Amino acid sequence: MAPEPAAAAARTRDVQLAMYHRARRTLPGGTDSNFRAWGEDTVYVDRGKGARIWDLDGNEFVDLRMGYGPVILGHADDRVDDHVNERMRRGVSFSLTSEDEVRAMELLCELTGWVEMARMTTSGTDATMHAMRVARAYTGREKIVKFEGQYHGMHDYALISVLPNDVSDLGDADNPVGLAWGRGIPGPVADTIIPARYNNIDRLRRLFERQGEEIAAIIVEPVLGNAQGIMPQPGFHQAMRALTEEFGILLIFDEVKTGFRFGRGGAAEFFGIRPDLATYAKAMGNGYPAAAFGGRREIMEMLPKKVSHGGTYAGNRIAAAAASKTLEIIRDTPALETIKATGERIQAGLRQVIDAKGLAYQITGHPAMFGIMFTEHVPSEYRDWANTDHELYDAIAVGMKSRGAMPEPDSREPWFVCEAHAQGDLVDRVVSIFADSFHAALEERARRGEVPPAGEPTHGAAASSSGG
Ligand SMILES: Cc1ncc(COP(=O)(O)O)c(C=O)c1O
Repeated sequence: MAPEPAAAAARTRDVQLAMYHRARRTLPGGTDSNFRAWGEDTVYVDRGKGARIWDLDGNEFVDLRMGYGPVILGHADDRVDDHVNERMRRGVSFSLTSEDEVRAMELLCELTGWVEMARMTTSGTDATMHAMRVARAYTGREKIVKFEGQYHGMHDYALISVLPNDVSDLGDADNPVGLAWGRGIPGPVADTIIPARYNNIDRLRRLFERQGEEIAAIIVEPVLGNAQGIMPQPGFHQAMRALTEEFGILLIFDEVKTGFRFGRGGAAEFFGIRPDLATYAKAMGNGYPAAAFGGRREIMEMLPKKVSHGGTYAGNRIAAAAASKTLEIIRDTPALETIKATGERIQAGLRQVIDAKGLAYQITGHPAMFGIMFTEHVPSEYRDWANTDHELYDAIAVGMKSRGAMPEPDSREPWFVCEAHAQGDLVDRVVSIFADSFHAALEERARRGEVPPAGEPTHGAAASSSGG
């Protein structure tokens, strides 16, 4: 008989509940981001160190969200923090340029190997907005193609066909509609964005043949970072690169999640692609608000004379110093190799647990950023998420949180691995918490008579789409 799953530990939330009610009076939803507004389950954090965080009630968690990806080394990393502290004492905001910014962008160019010029911004949102504008200016065309289920930030041009819960809202598969996420996005702005389907090169060709002369660029998250890191099918990026060149359309890699995580040169290096422009944020600053856009010299030289770009905090000292130090560590130490090996160890543990129950599943993405989807078929686009057993995943994620490990409680967000997850027994802890939560979720289903709790291993290990 299978061992009894460990019961979810009783974790008090009294201090956080009080904070939630206090915060709600001032902050809509009690938070500074819709993504963090989890009602009475909203987490109020006290501190983090390495791969662990503690909430205001003193509960400890192994963090698998890592701030949606930026914390690549670990929370409160002394190497980065000491450097930032030292630099910030010289003043942080001059709206003049410091050497830290120059250094950060030199490192970005060095690590990517193909970016010739870049500028810092204050967020990934900022970076994608500016990259799109530069692309429009350079080509003299107005439309941008983006893929369904991809997230490029919070500006009006990015919030089209992002993450509907009901994928039928995206329109007919052969004729997708541009679905604005939330109110307040002007129709004429939304009309400049053409939705496309990831991993479907034939449809892309037909779209380019129809409207190519209006299209300035295609922006792509190299993997579907907001759908468990769904990978491109072999040859997809190469075919898209060739197609964009054929039609004079720029290729923008949105590397906000993949940059300096999939490899020192990001997903462009990982997939062997040379885009025209790219955007970076997250891992480049280990959690400090560092971001950038950059690309081919000829395109970036539209700045400063022909295209507007600026920002009071663009390249501020704290972000620039954090980026310089983080990128140096990524360049000079085996941090990324450690992260990949740690992700692989976690994945191996998860496979063992799920295989023993014989459920069909896929592990998607890269070991540094991966997802678990309960489905027989390797997912290839956002619409496939709807056909996975995401309710099972969600039940597991909620169970994990109550047992001391915190993935995002949404089956679309991948797990993020940082360098510090390699420390101590954290990998074993994550796997054992996953196992207990998985078994508890299956037993709950069996109790409701929904799914047989056990069977022979069928899918999983062989069907992984991990590109690592
Ligand atoms: C691929 C991608 N692009 C852009 C953004 C927006 O970045 P930010 O939240 O820094 O504005 C995100 C954020 O998650 C992202 O994942």
